[in-house]
Amino acid sequence: MCNHCSDLEQLLLSRLNASREVAPVSLPSCRLIKGIETGSEDIDILPNGLAFISSGLKYPGIKSFAPDKPGEIFLMDLNEDNPRAVELRISRGFDLASFNPHGISTYVDRDDTVYLFVVNHPHQKSTVELFKFVEDDNSLVHLKTIRHDLLTSVNDIVAMGPDSFYATNDHYFTDFLLMFLEMFLGLTWSNVVYYSPKEVKEVASGFYSANGINVSPDRKYIYIADILDHSVYVMEKHANWSLTHVKTLQLDTLVDNLSIDPHTGDIWTGCHPNGMKLFYYDPENLPASEVLRIQNILSEEPLVTRVYSDNGSVLQGSSVASIYEGKLLIGTVFHRALYCEL
Ligand SMILES: *[C@@H]1O[C@H](CO)[C@@H](O)[C@H](O)[C@H]1NC(C)=O
Ligand SMILES: *[C@@H]1O[C@H](CO)[C@@H](O)[C@H](O)[C@H]1NC(C)=O
Repeated sequence: MCNHCSDLEQLLLSRLNASREVAPVSLPSCRLIKGIETGSEDIDILPNGLAFISSGLKYPGIKSFAPDKPGEIFLMDLNEDNPRAVELRISRGFDLASFNPHGISTYVDRDDTVYLFVVNHPHQKSTVELFKFVEDDNSLVHLKTIRHDLLTSVNDIVAMGPDSFYATNDHYFTDFLLMFLEMFLGLTWSNVVYYSPKEVKEVASGFYSANGINVSPDRKYIYIADILDHSVYVMEKHANWSLTHVKTLQLDTLVDNLSIDPHTGDIWTGCHPNGMKLFYYDPENLPASEVLRIQNILSEEPLVTRVYSDNGSVLQGSSVASIYEGKLLIGTVFHRALYCEL
């Protein structure tokens, strides 16, 4: 692939899967979602078909089409025939100007209260914002900001209760240099933390760059995407919230966010087939999109299907794919979002 590169450069190119080109896989019925132009980094769909979409991430070293515009959370009702994205209003008192939303996760309480956890990076810091969703007026009421020394550089989050979650830490926001050292030297300092008001602890470590995280429908397993290792880790969850490694599924793509089909347990991922094009944005050589479905990950032979793939002419830099009753939403780090009927 590169004859004059040093060993370190070769390693970086391989971490970024720099030589991979994608063959297109199209779906018959897709359209770009109106109103989402600056990313749709993470998507979480409630059991009733309401989809939350975080938009407008500003990530060091990654393209933004609107660097001065605060982030937003959109809502789409996937039960509608022709669903539209509506921006959710955020309650007063929350600092909207510095809102930089990243991973999101929802939790529905016993009394049907919907909580939305949002990883936020105001002024390059990492916080987790807890909101209550009010459906009557499409608004989010800010309940609290969670900060902790172990939540150093949070990427994604999966809610476990109304005030508890697992979070992945990469090193983007604490130390960009450290992140690059990890990429170059293969350091594995990225980790997973469990947070509750009573207890905060590291529950898994040794990742190149832990990214997407999610939970199996039976809530026994936690899935973690290691974006630079091109793999998905399966971890067993224990009563004390600790995690133990079960298996690792190796893939040929940079796995970003993970979402789970609640009916089948299939894992859907948005991926970056070629990380070089994502980190070094070039309008002449656009970052591609790729969606994989992983079936039966616990079995001896998980089935991995490329459901969608595009060279960037339609959709650039897919980061998440989420499914609801035959409808597929594909989000991106900084570009648009695609709605498909399967
Ligand atoms: C989701 O995808 C975005 C795209 O990179 C990724 O940066 C982010 O870390 C992922 N977020 C989650 C929530 O995994
Ligand atoms: C990208 O794919 C589209 C459609 O599949 C094709 O028309 C176009 O030429 C491709 N562009 C590049 C740069 O390969």
